[in-house]
Amino acid sequence: MRAARRAMEVFVTRRIPAAGLRALSEAGGCTVQQWDSDEPIPRAELLAGVAGKQGLLCLLSDRIDKEVLDAAGSSLKVISTMSVGFDHLALQEIKKRGIRVGYTPDVLTDATAELSVALLLATCRRLPESVEEVKNGGWTTWKPLWMCGYGLSDSTVGIIGLGRIGQAVARRLKPFGIKKFLYAGSRPKPEIAAEFQAEFVPIMRLAEESDFIVVTCSLTPETQGICNKDFFCRMKKTSVFINTSRGAVVNQEDLYDALVNGQIAAAGLDVTTPEPLPTDHPLLSLKNCVILPHIGSATYATRNTMSVLAANNLLAGLKGELMPSELLL
Ligand code: NDP
Ligand code: DGY
Repeated sequence: MRAARRAMEVFVTRRIPAAGLRALSEAGGCTVQQWDSDEPIPRAELLAGVAGKQGLLCLLSDRIDKEVLDAAGSSLKVISTMSVGFDHLALQEIKKRGIRVGYTPDVLTDATAELSVALLLATCRRLPESVEEVKNGGWTTWKPLWMCGYGLSDSTVGIIGLGRIGQAVARRLKPFGIKKFLYAGSRPKPEIAAEFQAEFVPIMRLAEESDFIVVTCSLTPETQGICNKDFFCRMKKTSVFINTSRGAVVNQEDLYDALVNGQIAAAGLDVTTPEPLPTDHPLLSLKNCVILPHIGSATYATRNTMSVLAANNLLAGLKGELMPSELLL
């Protein structure tokens, strides 16, 4: 007689869209334990929850480092993150232990690019400030010099990281009548750049020549803090800076100085360090800084799809099959 196969045990670190959880619970041979809350799991709960599990479905706000991997023990076979960014995962440690990793590229590209463009327009045309003026009585009459901002038409746009999201941003901005696209990255990509006639330039030249800068690169040791004092000093006083990648790409003290000193015109950030940004953070006191709470991929459809992809990555990994989206280590 064959011994009954033990169910795979997986730990899910947060409440996720129902479709994703359903995919896990309806899969045969899989027992799910979940931190069933919209709030982040306390570290001690994470360490306890992951112990002895074969699979871990986590979010970008969970730091999966040596401590978590040690707590999980040798049973852990697959980590599936419900994000395309993977800077929260200690990849060297994960690789050393032969653990497979799933992530969610592509399915959030459109939503994140759309939000990047929305944030760019909100920042350069001063939408939050204008809405506030309507509410607080600052709108007294139509004034020729009031609430003017910067338009996209005939401008130069610089994209840092012409990856999936960077390209989708460029594709959406093109119809606004952009004169020239520049991009910076680790290497030129002529085939991809051809669609936008985009020119590969060193990052400092991108800073000097762009009217709008959109940061869409991944966070790596090389990109950490690349938007710093030197970078902002090279930008034009009339230029607008947008970051929808990760907060740590930007030196926020240097950004604050650049905004306060009029070194650059305005900034729009969907990502910050830390997250959430404390409500008394100096950047929040500035009218020329628009800050969103990391909502790039936040459409109902996208988050559903991300959760199902994360679940399917986990299940495929546990079965030793090809994952729909595996991060190759
Ligand atoms: P991709 O891997 O397709 O693109 C990442 C880009 O980063 C690549 O084009 C790469 O360029 C670039 N890059 C790497 N190193 C450097 C460098 N030294 N200088 C400049 N660029 C560099 O990823 P996605 O486009 O799918 O996602 C990008 C990032 O966006 C994610 O990693 C995540 O952090 C963030 N994100 C944020 C969201 C939000 O809610 N705000 C939503 C989704 C993603 P190259 O190929 O030349 O190396
Ligand atoms: C990601 O996926 O990396 C985003 O930051 C959230 O969707």
